[in-house]
Amino acid sequence: MAEQEGIRRENGGNGGLGAAGREGNHAGNVLLGYLKSAPVGVNISGLTKSFGQNRVLKGVDLGIEPGETVVILGKSGTGKSVLLRHIIGLERPDGGSILIGGEPVEYDAPGKGEHVVAMVFQSSALFNSLTVADNVGLYLKEHKVFKDDGKVRQIVSSALEIVGLSEKEDVMPSVLSGGMKRRVATARALVMNPDLLLFDEPTAGLDPMMTRTIGDLILDLKQKVEMTQIVVTHDIDLAFYVADRIAVLSEGRIIEFGPPEQIRDCAKHAVQEFITPQFGENRR
Ligand SMILES: Nc1ncnc2c1ncn2[C@@H]1O[C@H](COP(=O)(O)OP(=O)(O)OP(=O)(O)O)[C@@H](O)[C@H]1O
Ligand SMILES: [Mg+2]
Repeated sequence: MAEQEGIRRENGGNGGLGAAGREGNHAGNVLLGYLKSAPVGVNISGLTKSFGQNRVLKGVDLGIEPGETVVILGKSGTGKSVLLRHIIGLERPDGGSILIGGEPVEYDAPGKGEHVVAMVFQSSALFNSLTVADNVGLYLKEHKVFKDDGKVRQIVSSALEIVGLSEKEDVMPSVLSGGMKRRVATARALVMNPDLLLFDEPTAGLDPMMTRTIGDLILDLKQKVEMTQIVVTHDIDLAFYVADRIAVLSEGRIIEFGPPEQIRDCAKHAVQEFITPQFGENRR
């Protein structure tokens, strides 16, 4: 699923807001100027969730500071996506609580809470009947964020530029690779101007250069916008690149939570499983 297209163009340097910023492109600045996050803290306490006999979350405790970028690591099937779906209000817990900026999550009306929470879904979850640009702009139109359609188009273009997909504005999602779809989903989440942004495997299926672009985007959102971010990933390099703190989810609980160095030095087997290179070579 690795993407072949536009890599050279997008891999022009380092240090701007995503692909657009790297090229010093004005469009990146449009979105950067537009993003005004009111970063919120997240407090998860004693969260439990079962599906039938399958006890997935057995008491998750996690406290995230406003403006912090937290990476969640964990084996496949351990409940990372389930945890994110609880935070965004799509899943109701059996027990425990989640506070976002001190407010309980609205399970009956996801998206209607006081704080804007956006999520880049693992599956991308785009509308197949809408063009890429219409997918990205849907929230702005539905919420009548701007009176002027031209402003919507400007923000949408800027967001797509940042994820390196300006040339795909008018195409349908069905013709995109999985990695491209996730980048569209990232642009769609950005234009919502979220206070809290959740990423579920944002770099799965991306080549190393585009992975770096997404990593730089997450860093920019942290450093320039001070957005609170939770990033679920299997990519250890990305985790150590962007995280203020890393949480390891295992057997339904957070078994370690701290700065990258703490995770790197942690002796627990379930933590080291993630840190140790799979093929026995030393990671740089
Ligand atoms: N809606 C659901 N109904 C029943 N079981 C579910 C549902 N959603 C998730 N599960 C189960 O919950 C467990 C955790 O799933 P989840 O998708 O959160 O894993 P994950 O950690 O995100 O894995 P991956 O790294 O592969 O994405 C799995 O056993 C899964 O089968
Ligand atoms: Mg998942």
